[in-house]
Amino acid sequence: MDIKNLNKEQAAAELKRIAEEMAKSDIAYYQNDSPYLTDAQYDELKKRNEEIEKLFPELIRPDSPSKRVGAPIKSEFKKVVHRFPMLSLADVFSIEEVKDFIDSVKRFLKTDSEIAFMCEPKIDGLSFSARYENGIFVQGATRGDGQVGEDITENLRTIRQLPLTIKNAPNILEIRGEVYMSKEDFFALNNLNQSLGKKIFANPRNAAAGSLRQLDPEITRNRHLSLFAYTWGEVSDRIWDSQADFFNHLRNWGFPINPNNRLCRSVNEIEQFYTNLMTIRSSLNYDIDGVVYKVNDILLQQRLGFLTRTPRWAVAHKFPAEQALTKIQNIRVQVGRTGALTPVADLEPINVGGVMVAHATLHNEDEIKRKDIRIGDTVIVQRAGDVIPQIVGVKLEYRPTSSVPFSFPTTCPECGAHAIREQDEAVRRCTGGLTCPAQAIERLKHFVSRDAFNIDGLGDKIIEDFYNEKIIQNPVDIFTLEQRNHPHEIDLFNKTSGLELEKRNGWGKKSVENLFASINKSKKIPLARFIYALGIRQVGTATSRLIAQNFGSWQHFENDMIAAQTDKLLAIDGIGESMACDIIEFFKEDHNRRIINQLKQIVTIEDFAEKISNSSPLSGKTIVFTGTLETLTRSEAKAKALSLGAKVAGSVSKNTDFVVIGADPGTKAKNAAQLGIAVLTEQQFLEMLS
Ligand code: IVH
Repeated sequence: MDIKNLNKEQAAAELKRIAEEMAKSDIAYYQNDSPYLTDAQYDELKKRNEEIEKLFPELIRPDSPSKRVGAPIKSEFKKVVHRFPMLSLADVFSIEEVKDFIDSVKRFLKTDSEIAFMCEPKIDGLSFSARYENGIFVQGATRGDGQVGEDITENLRTIRQLPLTIKNAPNILEIRGEVYMSKEDFFALNNLNQSLGKKIFANPRNAAAGSLRQLDPEITRNRHLSLFAYTWGEVSDRIWDSQADFFNHLRNWGFPINPNNRLCRSVNEIEQFYTNLMTIRSSLNYDIDGVVYKVNDILLQQRLGFLTRTPRWAVAHKFPAEQALTKIQNIRVQVGRTGALTPVADLEPINVGGVMVAHATLHNEDEIKRKDIRIGDTVIVQRAGDVIPQIVGVKLEYRPTSSVPFSFPTTCPECGAHAIREQDEAVRRCTGGLTCPAQAIERLKHFVSRDAFNIDGLGDKIIEDFYNEKIIQNPVDIFTLEQRNHPHEIDLFNKTSGLELEKRNGWGKKSVENLFASINKSKKIPLARFIYALGIRQVGTATSRLIAQNFGSWQHFENDMIAAQTDKLLAIDGIGESMACDIIEFFKEDHNRRIINQLKQIVTIEDFAEKISNSSPLSGKTIVFTGTLETLTRSEAKAKALSLGAKVAGSVSKNTDFVVIGADPGTKAKNAAQLGIAVLTEQQFLEMLS
């Protein structure tokens, strides 16, 4: 029918027909490799759709094919808070470790029967999340730090493999998977860019990342990205009960799923899957870097639950590292945040599995001795995933006759202070402490890093420059930068000259504004991040969180630490003697106390907030487990309690709220009785959980 003669009702019906027809054609073309519309027919439909939309703009559908193109260019990405964090996976590198993983799953679940695992190629791309509301694609996000990602709705929309509408789906459904660039498209892009004198990408993954995170979605569209769906985030009604079943739904909704995914029921099958995938790896049109094994049954997944950043029910089995031969030009010794001296080899740059490698870590003094690695040696370098390249061994037949063993420095190469090795320690440390510039710089880098204050705009190079130019010497200086940038705006009479950062090479007004905005935003910080930012030896993100959860507020923590209450730390399940000692030592240092006092004037440290609703009877309570439990394993019980906001302690004290006792409970039960603490049977504990 001629478009001009369409009435509103007919136009709406026609737009619906075209959207459906084109979606069907997209699936046939992109998923099934069986196009049934010619390019001309496809373009014809697209044009007709656009013309009708021009006449009836009010009828433009959310799933209109015209929405795949033409979104405006943005100045920055909006943030998207993931309702369910996007986690990563623990890596294993051998079939023995896979067996250990399977055993740990069985132990956790207290079962001897075989467990079915969905085995999937691990796609080497970028994870995405696509949110559908009432069957319509409404938001796309990157993984970001797992908690907060970037809004890439318009970019994802340009990927033709992503269905814009899905039928018979839960009202709210987040589909997650991997965006990648096929090897074919990667080579084509690099060839094109080379002829145009534009950027050459090191590997398909970088190309995919550079293409997806584009403020102009038109660029994304021209780059030809692909995707595989493999998991979900928020869902209003989970209508599948296994990973296999989930894939059936994905297939029906029109998502591309990897054709090599297989359900395996024994270690043997898993091993075969892995070996087979390794042999076909190079023939695939996309990069994979291993296999992911997921417990197939969702109820079992739920029982297994999560560690801080990774699920207990899945693991990534990485392919062996790729290797190459090259020469060591120099061995440098770097000084870390805690004074540890780490040797690094400068290499003749070499391509290892598609990535240029110019440096490799040598770990420590003993490692160099053990492998007898010398300057001038020809060595085998290896790279595994994102891990820092390593040196596997020396090709002695190529060693120059003049070579001498490497002698490890006994003084700090940065500040000249003695570098000593404590008994039983593998690392040698600089004793320069707070006066060593290298340590100060590394501490600053740590302070602004993503899991700490998360300040954008203070990259490694800038921190180094600012430190050397005495612009930033300690964390407090970061927060006075803005004031020092143009002091005379405040201080009209004493015209002190300001930093005028915007005049620096490569800087401008905008970058300075962005930096100050990021600094100001970071002034409100959750307790766990603040603790982590301090850079106390051995205290990583997980420990910081434990401390935050157990002490609740900074003031509680600080008071107890200054009073050297080691037992308060040791009472926390997960903190041992050596860590507790490092924490107390940190607070003994005057300099640290001074910096903390100044920081407290500037930043707001938010008390630990329970994510879980306070309605949980366990929220905020301290629990001790003792004896052998019947239906739950100890780790399962502990994980359940933690996830409901409880603290789990190792021993009974007057702060304990409940003691859960299993068979043969021992002295803890007696202590509880003496202190008048509530004692629960396993059954009673289970009832509280439900
Ligand atoms: S599942 C909670 N399945 O690997 C588990 N991840 O190291 C969520 N990846 O961030 C991930 N292929 O980007 C899963 N078949 C697959 C995958 C896969 C690639 C990536 C993903 C994730 C990373 C974890």
